[in-house]
Amino acid sequence: MIEHIKGTIQTTIKDNFDVSDITVEEPKRGLADLAIPLFPFAKQWKKSPKAIYDSFYGHLEPIADIESIEFSNGFMNLFLKRAPLSHRILTDVVIRDHGYGSVEPDQSKTVVIDYSSPNIAKSFSVGHLRSTVIGNALKKIYEKQGYRVVGINHLGDWGTQFGKMIVAYQKWGSKEAIRRAPIEELQALYVKFHDAAEQDPSLDQKARDALLKLEEKDPDYLELWQWFKDESLREFMSMYDLLGVTFDTYDGESFYNDKMDDVVRELGDQKLLQIDQGATIVDLGEDMPPALIKRSDGGTLYMTRDLAALLYRHRTYAFDSILYVVGNEQQLHFKQLKAISRLMGYDFDIEHINFGLVLIDGKKMSTRKGKNKKLRDVIDRAIDEAGKAISGKNPELGSKDEIAKAVAIGAIIFNDLKNERHLDIDFDLDHMLKFEGQTGPYIQYSSVRIESILREHEIDLDTMDPSFYEQDTYFEIIKQISQFPTIITRAREHNAPSVIARYVLSLAQSFNRFYGNQRILIDDPSHLQANLLFIKAIQIVLNEGLRLLGMKALKEM
Ligand code: ARG
Repeated sequence: MIEHIKGTIQTTIKDNFDVSDITVEEPKRGLADLAIPLFPFAKQWKKSPKAIYDSFYGHLEPIADIESIEFSNGFMNLFLKRAPLSHRILTDVVIRDHGYGSVEPDQSKTVVIDYSSPNIAKSFSVGHLRSTVIGNALKKIYEKQGYRVVGINHLGDWGTQFGKMIVAYQKWGSKEAIRRAPIEELQALYVKFHDAAEQDPSLDQKARDALLKLEEKDPDYLELWQWFKDESLREFMSMYDLLGVTFDTYDGESFYNDKMDDVVRELGDQKLLQIDQGATIVDLGEDMPPALIKRSDGGTLYMTRDLAALLYRHRTYAFDSILYVVGNEQQLHFKQLKAISRLMGYDFDIEHINFGLVLIDGKKMSTRKGKNKKLRDVIDRAIDEAGKAISGKNPELGSKDEIAKAVAIGAIIFNDLKNERHLDIDFDLDHMLKFEGQTGPYIQYSSVRIESILREHEIDLDTMDPSFYEQDTYFEIIKQISQFPTIITRAREHNAPSVIARYVLSLAQSFNRFYGNQRILIDDPSHLQANLLFIKAIQIVLNEGLRLLGMKALKEM
């Protein structure tokens, strides 16, 4: 609503003066509610700031929400009718509830988000966790803004490793062992294959033959591959259940097996293919290395499948933009993908939503070769720790397991999303599970605090006196609440869930400051009611912010 007033001010000035752009600031604390810096106009029109002020004054003075206007130090300071405006803002939030900040669904705006996308028969890495968490938040943010979102898990379920896996399974594998711990066992077989192939290079040839047979759809091999895939998926699904993440499709790399010929043909027809040492490539000029489309033995590659997927997705979903949530290390791959699509004459809006590494004690955390603990074990430990922490705080709590889960997962998600995504993040369980500081539990706890007050007291809008909102302690936070819709837009425009995470954190901090300085439960019913409406609105925004990040708001903890 305050954004709206700013907009009215801007158009009023633009309509009456020859200006293309006008800044309306929200000065921090006290000075004014809104302020227009006059120096830029003074300079442009060679007049004094006061003269500009005088000429603007008559146009802005009639705007309904403006209480008074003052000239101060080259600024036009605007004071708003805080009480009625606050009343409108807060009741609007409470009436719209979690719909506050939502944009009407518009089926004509479609975005495809490719996220998580782990590799079959390999463990779910911390990188995949980041992709899952960031992609899921983006999905919710776009949906909130009215977009139709197609969430795709582009499973890594095809490629050379499956030839190796099949050979290794035939030599050393056991059905029971895989049933027991599918990913660990398959990964162990893979490692074993590599070690053995160093001694016996004929194994590599066997693996290539196996892959060829697989690509020719040999029923026995296909069955084995399907089984590996099913077992892996079972583990992935339990991770998604835990995180509360869903996808619209799991069409992964293998889905494009029968769709690659067409793409290669299209590339050929457009004279984009070259043969280089037997391999088929697309030359991408000086800026980047050529992209490999087919191996010398005719085998296809990750890029070939991504090209087929891109065209298929455009045909199927008619997207306006497509986002790939994948780590920084695949920068070149997506640059090439985009470049090839341009050469083919498509002008798709392709965005690589890149992100940094996960560090433990400043070192890269990897799940490769089982050197580090399994991610699932780490998460289970987080749940354990969260359980202990909440039991300590609140021994009488019911449904403790559910709450511990929500706190632990929330902690992990917030620890990720509070950072600009391209940066590396630290993964320090003890730190992220704290109830103070920039943590998930801190925000969940703020909402729970409000919940426990509201449980005992009914909101009654008729008794409430909005004049209390004229005080800075209230109005500063009300301004913050009114920024929520703009914050969501900014998060979407930059594909940056961190914008929402930082906002929610700052709102929680504002609330806790207020809570520390101001008694909420007071005898005067008109003031009490003003407080209740105020904290209810804060809670709605906190909870909706948490939801957009993929975290759960709790009623108790
Ligand atoms: N499976 C890949 C990996 O783990 C990520 C796939 C990302 N999506 C894509 N369309 N390339 O590295």
